[in-house]
Amino acid sequence: MAAVNLRFAPLAGCLLACTPIGPSSTPAQPASDPPAAVTPVASDARTEPAPEPEPEPAPEPTPEPVSDFGVLHEDLNAHYEEETDVEQWRDRFEHGPREVRFKQPLILKEVGLAKGDRVADIGAGTGLYTFPFAKAVGKSGRVFAVDVQDYFLEYLQAQAKERGLTQVRTVKATQTSVSLEDGSIDVAFLCDAYHHIEHPEPYLKSLHAALRPGGRLVVVDYAKVEGATAFIQHHLRDSPDTFRAEIEAAGFRFVRSADFLDDNFLFVFERPKAR
Ligand SMILES: C[S@@+](CC[C@H](N)C(=O)[O-])C[C@H]1O[C@@H](n2cnc3c(N)ncnc32)[C@H](O)[C@@H]1O
Repeated sequence: MAAVNLRFAPLAGCLLACTPIGPSSTPAQPASDPPAAVTPVASDARTEPAPEPEPEPAPEPTPEPVSDFGVLHEDLNAHYEEETDVEQWRDRFEHGPREVRFKQPLILKEVGLAKGDRVADIGAGTGLYTFPFAKAVGKSGRVFAVDVQDYFLEYLQAQAKERGLTQVRTVKATQTSVSLEDGSIDVAFLCDAYHHIEHPEPYLKSLHAALRPGGRLVVVDYAKVEGATAFIQHHLRDSPDTFRAEIEAAGFRFVRSADFLDDNFLFVFERPKAR
């Protein structure tokens, strides 16, 4: 892992969480370096001139993975596939200097859950929001903790059992579907997860169906805007405006945005009621 510039210290937690793990330094002399070219010695140097060197072939451009809406910077979930130690993810998500952690009370207020609500914490990770949601909706409510990684789901299930939270259910999503039943939730919430969805178009379609008409969708994510840190500029595929346009194109109505976040944006949408 490259050293984290102090300028990005507030984001170091997610920098660690959201970047692939592995050595980043370049070896001084790669073992695969070809040996220096050896010019063959001609039997008669006067009659056999040295052959012209072959021109170097142009390097093949590396194809980038393409989402439904644009070009992605990287394989968005490779680090979650490679690093499966849930304890170290919990440290990063729940003890790192993340704005979504420090300002959690404000974000929870904005989500505005009531007892008995059915909420989906989509891209739940280690449950930073799953467990406060469980408290907010109470035993008469339901929290669907949705993720694509089995190790997060197993951890969440074990935690829910240990804490006696029978209102929490884990759900395994795919990159094209949230895997929730139609009309089964009142509120959908994504924290630092929307930008990890590899195929937003079909995924949003499934999410629209899962939300009851009149239900809310709350999206919190890094704001790739002018003046954002280099980490955000590199890591996010697109701006809040583009994310908003994608979500509106899937049939959600934009309701409002919050103004208390610095590195992130928070948008509230609604699935319009049927006419
Ligand atoms: C940066 S973590 C955020 C975890 C948690 N929401 C938090 O803020 O601490 C992103 C999470 O999104 C999950 N994820 C990626 N693609 C997903 C998808 N298509 N559906 C649901 N979860 C997904 C990852 O496995 C990971 O747990």
